[in-house]
Amino acid sequence: MLAIVALLGACGSVETGSVRPAEAEVFAAASSTLVPLPDGRLVLEMDARLIAIAPGDPTSEPIVIGPATDVGEVHAVVPTQGAVLVLASGGTFLLRGEAWVPTDLGMAFDGPIVDAVRLPSPTGIGLGDLWVATATSLYRIVDDEAQELALDEDLSDVELAIAPRPEGPALWVKLPDRVLEVWRDRSGVVRTARLGLETAPSAIGGSAAPTGGSTTGWLVIDGGLFSIGADRVLVDRGVRVDRLLTSPLADEVWALGPDGPRLFADGARLEVEGAALPDDAPVALAADGSLFVSDGAAVRRVSPRRQVTVGGAPDGSLLVRPQVFPVAAEGSPLIEAQIDGAAVELLTEPLRVELDPAELGEGSHTLEIRVTYDDGTLPVLERRTFEVVTNATWADDIQPIYDTYCGQCHGPEGPANTRLDAPGDWQEIFEVVVANVEDGRMPLNNDPLTQREIAIIQAWEVGGFAQ
Ligand code: HEC
Repeated sequence: MLAIVALLGACGSVETGSVRPAEAEVFAAASSTLVPLPDGRLVLEMDARLIAIAPGDPTSEPIVIGPATDVGEVHAVVPTQGAVLVLASGGTFLLRGEAWVPTDLGMAFDGPIVDAVRLPSPTGIGLGDLWVATATSLYRIVDDEAQELALDEDLSDVELAIAPRPEGPALWVKLPDRVLEVWRDRSGVVRTARLGLETAPSAIGGSAAPTGGSTTGWLVIDGGLFSIGADRVLVDRGVRVDRLLTSPLADEVWALGPDGPRLFADGARLEVEGAALPDDAPVALAADGSLFVSDGAAVRRVSPRRQVTVGGAPDGSLLVRPQVFPVAAEGSPLIEAQIDGAAVELLTEPLRVELDPAELGEGSHTLEIRVTYDDGTLPVLERRTFEVVTNATWADDIQPIYDTYCGQCHGPEGPANTRLDAPGDWQEIFEVVVANVEDGRMPLNNDPLTQREIAIIQAWEVGGFAQ
């Protein structure tokens, strides 16, 4: 079914306001390449080499990650399991910690990558579909395999973006004369339809779901900015735009145009005070909503929000044991914390929140930490959703892990001496088992278990090795 986007939303109802971003020089040389990584680092080009810097950490040294010429133009940088996948015209690369390794994923494509995007997962936890376009084909990457979607279009100028659909995050494919929507229906089948627009947009973008919201698609039509949210209504945002900056990792959207920069954040359209953003300078949007700008002799960061980091278990983790979430914030802001909507005590020296899974109980929980400044920057909301599991059992949780990853070697017939086919075998050497899966030595010759699987093994111990 073709979704007709005919209704025009009123723009008068949009909340407005202003923001005074914090600005800082992060690198003392200009760079034509600006690639923000999901972990907050920034990849720059210096003397024909790509280097990674950590703008939030003044003590860190830049590291050289490879010759820029081999990488070419970077089209997308997407988080994958514990690493960053860089999709560039020169190939595909994995950045794991400080190691930069070419991957053979690029071999699956019939030509250089023109654009790529990773969709958020429909549940908001874990990774969603990765889409890659070459000049002639569109691919969906599933379990490191590239599946081609037959489109029969010239994709040499294609742009990809995330977009909302009732079924979950969808893909927009911008062709010269129209936009296609690609999504998976409830049974997982890939569907395509033309987005019903009277005029083809000149640019598209997609922003991440804000807390509790959903993905938004952005379009530049006849020089004006429009958006489409989960309600599928095309809304005129009342701004002229020359450059649209969106990121599937950020819910903030920057529109640079003749009336000055505008920022869309926290449900409002904001005038940007004090920030100098040259028209033609290289600009990139980071996952935290900051802009990196390379002008003249330096790379600057223009941040609508102050830097706040919350440590402890990452979003989507499994919580098994009491967990500390340390909070690091610049200056002296007002900080509030809530678990599932109820206030939770903020401990000091060091600043932190402590949560005990036994008190929270089984199931899914959300920790929210709100940090507010009075200097014109926007408040920072850090959110961690996690699951508490304390009642893992051998039959439901551990045996399936054993069957999948260990059984071929650790059973009665296997090559390993250590037997692990009964719960008692695990209990006897439990610490050794955990140490072996944590450092990835086991399963032998195979990918390490996921954090989740390891947490389930630990939860089994916490729950008293239930059968
Ligand atoms: C491809 C075969 C293979 C697979 C799969 C495998 N192992 Fe092993 N494992 C071995 C071998 C070989 C040894 C060394 C001999 C021994 O100690 O039994 C070993 C040793 C171990 C040891 C003892 C290490 C020590 O320091 O004493 C533990 C514990 C272990 N494996 C756990 C696991 C777990 C848990 C899994 C599944 C998540 C797994 N292994 C999967 C082959 C395998």
